Amino acid sequence: MQQTPRRHASLASGVGLRLPHIAEVVATRPQAAWFEIHPENFLANPHAAELLGEIARHYPISVHTVGVSIGSAGGIDRAHLARVARLIDAVDPILVSGHLAWSTHAGEYLNDLLPLPYDANTLAVLARHVDEVQQALGRTYLVENPSSYLGFAGSTMTEFAFLSTLVERTGCQLLCDVSNVYLSSHNMGYDARAYLDGLTADAIGELHLGGFTREADEATPGGDVLIDTHATRVADAAWELYAYAIRRFGRRPTLIEWDNDIPALATLLDEARRAERIAESASDLEASRAAG
Ligand SMILES: [Fe+2]
Repeated sequence: MQQTPRRHASLASGVGLRLPHIAEVVATRPQAAWFEIHPENFLANPHAAELLGEIARHYPISVHTVGVSIGSAGGIDRAHLARVARLIDAVDPILVSGHLAWSTHAGEYLNDLLPLPYDANTLAVLARHVDEVQQALGRTYLVENPSSYLGFAGSTMTEFAFLSTLVERTGCQLLCDVSNVYLSSHNMGYDARAYLDGLTADAIGELHLGGFTREADEATPGGDVLIDTHATRVADAAWELYAYAIRRFGRRPTLIEWDNDIPALATLLDEARRAERIAESASDLEASRAAG
């Protein structure tokens, strides 16, 4: 059985730890609630891995895998999973997560997180792979909703129903990326709040927030598409949806993701403090509503 996650060890907001900030974090020990890492950044970089060990002695760490491709029909790369498991044993993270996507095929690693049709066959493959990952890691795995630009005509269920059934079948949890819900709902034309209403609060182990970029949609004259660039501050509309998510699910550990045009660490920590303030006032509001 999986180890129970220490998911509420920290309900505060963390930031993604990216390579340009690692030495600064070691040297200055900034006030930060926790850091999320991509294990793939450390597996072939012994110096960074050594610094990560140092950081893990002072801060809670969340491990967000990007190369464990649970959606690949050809199966999980067990050698890669074993390397991730060793890193997880070394840093003893508070959370371990990955994407609802596929990113490998026939031993090739692709640079994108690619979408899946939401149907019974895909669900069976995903459930098998999530079981395998949870067994190998000895921990609950959190599955993250993707950013969507296109759907499959063959999908037979909504994404939130697909994720909820995956939780029921495997005992996994969900990492709800609120910015992804916002931008996917814009791109795919559905109601973002109805999507959040479709998820069970108990299943939500973590939230993500990241910046996106608006571009003209060449397929729709006058239309636009939101791209999940993680290259800007969180948009006001995503903050609003975050407040709704907190009222709906309660407070959850929340991560600020920023992967391109990476700013000063202080900017990331400032975004994390904004998440704290919004979560605090949203949960206070919900508590006073519940009190009558
Ligand atoms: Fe995310």
